Parts: sequence; structure tokens; C-alpha cells
Amino acid sequence: MRFRWWRLSVFLVAGVWPFWWVYQAWIFALGPDPGKVLVDRLGQGTLVLLMVALCMTPLQRLTGWPGWIAVRRQLGLWCFAYALMHLAAYLFFVLGLDWGQLGVELRKRPYIIVGALGLLFLLVMAVTSNRYSQRRLGRRWKVLHRLAYIVLGLGLLHFLWVVRADLKEWSVYAGVGVLLMVVRVPGVVRRIPRLGAG
Ligand code: HEM
Repeated sequence: MRFRWWRLSVFLVAGVWPFWWVYQAWIFALGPDPGKVLVDRLGQGTLVLLMVALCMTPLQRLTGWPGWIAVRRQLGLWCFAYALMHLAAYLFFVLGLDWGQLGVELRKRPYIIVGALGLLFLLVMAVTSNRYSQRRLGRRWKVLHRLAYIVLGLGLLHFLWVVRADLKEWSVYAGVGVLLMVVRVPGVVRRIPRLGAG
């Protein structure tokens, strides 16, 4: 694989945050409940990465630069990695690896089931994100990877369920999510100007 500066940039930008947050937790800079803050930051990180990945296709259309699509897979895989870290942080810091409590937890926090479904879909996309699956699945690959839109909906629902009344931050995410869906509506896609070649 040839060196691409944007691949390295995505790797560095996406990779640095979890280390930074763990470091902050280590030095007690995340408040009295660092474990919960870590779970929340990784959850928001998952959603941000999913949204950034979903920006790639409209940006490619707008600019004609194929690099956006090359980076989309990398962003998607980082999104999956963040979701796994989010789950691991939850199991470790909130559940305390007390598996007997899992049933009680699911009754107390049913939004976990919504998050788990989102993670399952991310897993399906991650394992089929390679060229081999793309070739084998042909046209069905594109349809399968529309699961990303469902994950976006599930992620926003899961988030809404967590924050409940405090809707300020959630509304920003929901607004961006709606915009990302609107720019995919065929009638809107046709109106997106093509600034670059391609
Ligand atoms: C098995 C999978 C998952 C589990 C067990 C899980 C669990 C949790 C828990 C327990 C919280 C709340 C922590 C608190 O009390 O503040 C949370 C928050 C959150 N999760 Fe998940 N989650 C999962 C998957 C996902 C996925 C796939 C996404 C994104 C697509 C996501 C995005 C979020 C967001 C945005 C928050 C809110 C963060 C905040 O309040 O700032 N989660 N998750």
C-alpha cells in the first residue's frame, strides 16, 4: 500500500483521543467519576466518526477528489474501534465486569440494547469492508453498507435515551444527522454542484 498523507492524518487524529482520555482519567482530570466520562466520550467519539465517515460521499461528489472515498473505510473502521472501546469501558467501569448484574442493567438501561444493535451492524460493515467482500457482494455491498444510516438512527436514539431532558448537545448531533440524510435524497443529490473534476 502506497503512503498517503491523509491516511496517516486520520490515523493520528482518531488514534490520539482514547490515549488522551485514558491519560486524563489516570491523572484524575475527568472529575469524580472518570469511568463514566470515558464511556460518554467514547460514545460521542463513535457517533462523530460515523458522521465524519458519512460526509465523505457528499464531499467526493462536491469536489470530485477520490481520496474522500479512500478515507471513508478507514473512518468507518475507527468508528467500529471506538464503539468496541465504548463497550469495553462500559463493561469495565460501569458494570465492573459483574456479569450477574447484566440482566438488572439491561432492565435499568434498556438503551443498551439499542446501542448493542448499532454495534452489531457496525461489526457486519467492518468485516465486509474489504475489497474481497466488495467484489463478492457486487451491488448488494452498497445496499448492505446502507446499514450506516440505521446505525446513525440507532446511535441518536441511544444518545437521546441517555440524555433524556438535556437536549442541547443531542439536538446538534441530530441536526447534523438529518443534514447528512437530506444530502442523500436523489432530488437533492442532483442539485449538489460539482466543483472539481471527476
Ligand atoms: C454494546 C454496545 C453499547 C453499549 C453497551 C453502550 C452503553 C452506553 C452507556 C451505558 C452509556 C451511558 C453512560 C452514562 O451513564 O452516561 C452510553 C452512552 C452513549 N453511547 Fe453507547 N453503548 C453502546 C453502543 C453505542 C454505539 C454503537 C454508539 C454510536 C453509534 C453509542 C453512542 C453513545 C453516545 C453518543 C452516548 C452518550 C454520551 C454522552 O452522554 O455524552 N453507543 N452508551
